[in-house]
Amino acid sequence: MHHASIIGTGSYVPERILTNHHLREMVDTSDKWIIERTGIRERRIASGEETNVTMGRIALERAIENSGIRCEEIEFLVVGTNTTEPVWPSASGHIANLLGLRKDLPFLDVQAGCTGFNYALSVAEMSIKAEQYRTVAVIGTDKLSAITDYQDRNTCVLFGDGAGALILRQSMNEGIIRSHLGGNAKARDLLILSKKDGTGNGYIKMEGRKVYTFAKRAMVESCFRVLDPSGTAGKNELRALFEQVTKIIPHQANARIIMGAAEELESRLELPAGEAKNKMIMTIEQYGNNSCASIPLALDLSLRTGKLRKGDLVIFVGFGAGLTYAANLVRL
Ligand code: ACO
Repeated sequence: MHHASIIGTGSYVPERILTNHHLREMVDTSDKWIIERTGIRERRIASGEETNVTMGRIALERAIENSGIRCEEIEFLVVGTNTTEPVWPSASGHIANLLGLRKDLPFLDVQAGCTGFNYALSVAEMSIKAEQYRTVAVIGTDKLSAITDYQDRNTCVLFGDGAGALILRQSMNEGIIRSHLGGNAKARDLLILSKKDGTGNGYIKMEGRKVYTFAKRAMVESCFRVLDPSGTAGKNELRALFEQVTKIIPHQANARIIMGAAEELESRLELPAGEAKNKMIMTIEQYGNNSCASIPLALDLSLRTGKLRKGDLVIFVGFGAGLTYAANLVRL
């Protein structure tokens, strides 16, 4: 059977930095509260001209360059995103056109909140395993600043903008080993876009506490399901599988959610304290939650700085509006 392997990555973040000190001048908050409750110090904010499309395009250009392929080799483009304005035509269509990809290229957007990248990666991987395509581009890109209410301290301290991309290619070697996609449509009202003035998409509104509780549980479940899809492994077997994992790239929503999920993994698998925590790759301090970009951005930065290397076994795991959650187990 053919596998789908990652052969190149790229990312982009806007230049403008919004620090906790800037936010203190906008809403009733403090640097101390934001760091203690979220782990975020600063986030990147797109300029007026920058969009999910322009950021995604740059990230993909960098992934193409990094993989050493030509644009024409890409046969399918899948983009995880939530912030295309207007929603038609899709971000993937705009990006395909801007980059001059093949004229008959199929492309699609996957809209699944911050889980969009993990879902998109799974769609792309399936298309390769089904031998439909050989080379597929996947992007996660979002401009959450466009849908953030900068008068709402419950949300505006969390979000930022950015994009990440990768190229998947048919291979005889292991690549995306397994995906787990989850959802809880009953809880869809916990994280919504709500129109304040009747125009545009509206702003993010969420029940932070409830999303927090869901997120921790969903990330742990997805990590287990991706290691043990049938759910039949005993504790020792599951622990042995988990110990083979080099690193975990979690969606960067809140450092406390990530560390909480790690503690839960340690307790359920009876691991020494710190073992799961040390596997967590963190970029949240500098970039906040940039939705679909957070995992591919962290992947690209980690590969470029040597934190991750070819051959490592990695879990990408996240959650988001919908509510949705997902994980991918990947051999780099
Ligand atoms: N500065 C100071 N105080 C604040 C701030 C702020 N920025 N925000 C909230 N508070 C206050 C609240 O008003 C509350 O005050 P009160 O007790 O007087 O009512 C107090 O702090 C505690 O509020 P909680 O909501 O209980 O704080 P919590 O510790 O849960 O942290 C947070 C809030 C950071 C939002 C957390 O719940 C969280 O991260 N939730 C998950 C959110 C998330 O990840 N969403 C994204 C999903 S991904 C996607 O698809 C976009």
